[in-house]
Amino acid sequence: MTLELDFSGKTVVVVGGTSGINRGVAECFAAHGARVAVASRDPGKVDATVAAIESAGVEAAGFAADVRDYDALEAGIHELHVRWGEFDVVISGAAGNFPALAQNLSVNGFKSVVDIDLRGTFHVMKAVFPCLKKPGASVINISAPQAFIPMQAQIHVCAAKAGVDMITRTLALEWGGHGVRINSIVPGPIDGTEGMARLAPDPETAARTAAGVPLGRLGTPRDIGMACLFLGSDLAAYVSGVILPVDGGWAQNNCGGMSDHLAMLMSGGDR
Ligand code: NAP
Ligand code: COA
Repeated sequence: MTLELDFSGKTVVVVGGTSGINRGVAECFAAHGARVAVASRDPGKVDATVAAIESAGVEAAGFAADVRDYDALEAGIHELHVRWGEFDVVISGAAGNFPALAQNLSVNGFKSVVDIDLRGTFHVMKAVFPCLKKPGASVINISAPQAFIPMQAQIHVCAAKAGVDMITRTLALEWGGHGVRINSIVPGPIDGTEGMARLAPDPETAARTAAGVPLGRLGTPRDIGMACLFLGSDLAAYVSGVILPVDGGWAQNNCGGMSDHLAMLMSGGDR
């Protein structure tokens, strides 16, 4: 058993891997020798990510699919399996988010986020299971602190990501017998990402958020990538069913008052 973070000869698939945190994760695996495939809705983002990874000298592939469309997702995964064989590591991180207080959130708005984050995660799990290396594969779901810290204006995300973590924990039971490990990573507030742009849209809020992180800074996609390398490697050979915050301690500080801030923002500052 190798104890090095060398992913040469390994196949890594990152669903939702064409921007932000997940793209950073894909690039981390590529930088450690893996051949990497990414998938998301926008073919332009897929092509750009594949080109960027290839330009770093490793093999890359990608396909466009909406995780809400099981047939399209399954077709892309199947094609990849035929081309590259079994998957060593799968990261599932497609998600949608916007702030809205429950009384203002439409039925379709709630459904949209639950469909992407929760049903989408199930779709990815179902599509990839036949393609995983057994024994030995590692699956990582990208969750969020809203899964276990209630946050105002985030009822859709809280409900969806709590479900994602229960998918992780349930599959740790079902897939353990196949030698497949599965864990969630819970990013803290990650600088320069779409998620932060939506929840902390101005520099003052971003600075306030950073101040609420016990380690005193926003995270980077690389911070999340490093944790994914660990969970994807033999270093984590006995780790399964874990919900791992990678957040500088933010969750221990109740996400630094983000809940009250979002409620204030969404009610026009009159709360
Ligand atoms: P992002 O840049 O918007 O990344 C989302 C990715 O998912 C993109 O590649 C997007 O590409 C894809 N995607 C979105 N909807 C999809 C769909 N229906 N089907 C397939 N792919 C879809 O966001 P991010 O802020 O980096 O967040 C990445 C992950 O980290 C998410 O799971 C999020 O919940 C989690 N997270 C983020 C933060 C943060 O601070 N940013 C904190 C905690 C957790 P397309 O547009 O091409 O589909
Ligand atoms: N506030 C309140 N409701 C909103 C909203 C907002 N900012 N943005 C979208 N919605 C509602 C829409 O009004 C619609 O509901 P309606 O039919 O009752 O009007 C519903 O959500 C679906 O919107 P739509 O734009 O059709 O969805 P989509 O499937 O094209 O996109 C989103 C999904 C809304 C999540 C979109 O923001 C997205 O694609 N996000 C991906 C990127 C992202 O969120 N990154 C951060 C990850 S942490």
